[in-house]
Amino acid sequence: MPFITRFIASQMRTLPPLPDVDLRGRTYIVTGANSGIGLEIVRHLAVRHASTIILAVRNLSSGEHAMGTIYNELPRGHGVEMKVWHVDMSSLASVNEFANKCASLDRIDGVALNAGVLGGKEYVKTRDGHEELTQVNVLSPIFLALLLMPLLRRTAGQVASIAQPLLSPRIIFTGSAIAEMAPTKFFDVENPLLGLDDERRYRPSTRYDESKVSSGVVGNIGISQLLKLIPDIVITDVNPGFVDTPLYRHSTGPAGSMVRRIGRSPEVGARNVSMALLTLDKSVDFYHDCRPCKLHVDWLGSSNGIQFSENLWRESCDEFERNHPGVMQRAGI
Ligand SMILES: NC(=O)c1ccc[n+]([C@@H]2O[C@H](COP(=O)([O-])OP(=O)(O)OC[C@H]3O[C@@H](n4cnc5c(N)ncnc54)[C@H](OP(=O)(O)O)[C@@H]3O)[C@@H](O)[C@H]2O)c1
Repeated sequence: MPFITRFIASQMRTLPPLPDVDLRGRTYIVTGANSGIGLEIVRHLAVRHASTIILAVRNLSSGEHAMGTIYNELPRGHGVEMKVWHVDMSSLASVNEFANKCASLDRIDGVALNAGVLGGKEYVKTRDGHEELTQVNVLSPIFLALLLMPLLRRTAGQVASIAQPLLSPRIIFTGSAIAEMAPTKFFDVENPLLGLDDERRYRPSTRYDESKVSSGVVGNIGISQLLKLIPDIVITDVNPGFVDTPLYRHSTGPAGSMVRRIGRSPEVGARNVSMALLTLDKSVDFYHDCRPCKLHVDWLGSSNGIQFSENLWRESCDEFERNHPGVMQRAGI
């Protein structure tokens, strides 16, 4: 079935309501928690009595405003503790600093790696020397997942002691089915990361889609390596669907006006991520419309696609090791 048919069918689908799971005793981290889908994930977790929720944001005042809004909606004495912590996903040093702060937590039951950017007309280079979408959408989420792995693994040993013991610790990447539309012919198969960072290869109309293919690749290779060593952690890549959020505020194409007409509400889009946080019982490559699904990027199965994936993972690991020597070994890889 062509992408467009599946896209329309998905947008028209009514997603199931989230179950009434009791999250007392559990701790969650949500990146990009001040806005759109991230904010709704926090709301889903808070009303289900999660004990601690870390709102990981780049703009602290925006995060505090979001936290205040949710506190005001909860009944008095509800018991959830929310904290707003700074992380700038366009800086590996900031991600590292955030992960160090997370080491003070007793446990982590779930991480929603949700922060992301759509990008604009202009090529933007981060202080680390990467193209912005490549760093925020591709490198930083998996880097943070690797840094948090020791605490996630420790939590996996503790889950039996609290309610709902079957909910093992989980890492949820926020991907996108739009990855299926990425024009893979522009990828540099030999040096994928260098290619993505190369300003001459930057095309505003397709870079977001390319970033979501790449994050899926890095996520999936990282995931499969981690799962070989730590099978009791659940990892997946979730597509929230086409959702009307501030993501499209700088959209250069028709998506900006289209999303206002046919986009899901942020709450419905966030249900995909929250459903995986609340119910998924094993790792799956891709999760969509609140169920395990297949991402149709057939090119990734070709010899070029396989080479691209291996090289991108290798280049990413080299970059992580340069910034944080020993990170792979500590993660268990
Ligand atoms: N909306 C859709 O149709 C759709 C479809 C598929 C996938 N997604 C994915 O869903 C995720 C959430 O997006 P959304 O639609 O909810 O858009 P959004 O409302 O714009 O949320 C994006 C979040 O990411 C944060 N962020 C961006 N750059 C960051 C950085 N350098 N460091 C830390 N945080 C940063 C934003 O912070 P600021 O508020 O400070 O900018 C914001 O909190 C993204 O990964 C997006 O790619 C969205």
